[in-house]
Amino acid sequence: MEIRSKEEYLSGIRRVLISEEEIRSEIKKAGEYIDSCYTGSPVLLVSILKGSFIFLADLCRAVSVPCEIGFMAAKSYYESTQSSGIVNITMDIQQDIEGRDVIIVEDIIDTGRTLNDVLKLLHARKPASLRVVTLLDKPERRIVELNADYSLFTIPDHFVIGYGLDYGEFYRSLPYIAEYNTDKENDHA
Ligand code: IMP
Ligand code: MG
Repeated sequence: MEIRSKEEYLSGIRRVLISEEEIRSEIKKAGEYIDSCYTGSPVLLVSILKGSFIFLADLCRAVSVPCEIGFMAAKSYYESTQSSGIVNITMDIQQDIEGRDVIIVEDIIDTGRTLNDVLKLLHARKPASLRVVTLLDKPERRIVELNADYSLFTIPDHFVIGYGLDYGEFYRSLPYIAEYNTDKENDHA
């Protein structure tokens, strides 16, 4: 995708779906959920890049149990709003997770394919526990039947941008979550 001007960039934002305030208040609750799951033993938060980097940064500061951070990269969407159906683990965590309490931090569960692959991979390494916390859940689009242990927001089948989520690598820096203006795709087709 090519963005040539600020007008063009802004025309991709159809409307705000979830405001900064709503995100902040749900993150506080998610932090409390994580604290309630563990008795104070350290947890490893594994962020699935790139989409969850902003969520992870806010979530880890809402948690009071000791936590370590790990990063994994998975790519499934490429430059389109339709899932390619191919999941690539392009970067792995450095930590050994055997016997550890692990939380996967995801931006969004859409078809469920990415999470399914990541879960399989991490399960095989025998963590003491493995939970999933996702910022967004789009249950209507599920292909692989799985659910997060904790989801901050359930959204309808709209392509969303902002707060870490992109369209063609843009819009990750928006402080809120917005619906992407899909009419733009037709403009450029
Ligand atoms: P899944 O494998 O279909 O569940 O999709 C997983 C990945 O696709 C997510 O982690 C996102 O990075 C990306 N994705 C899915 N839906 C959206 C969306 O509405 N906006 C931006 N990225 C999305
Ligand atoms: Mg993602």
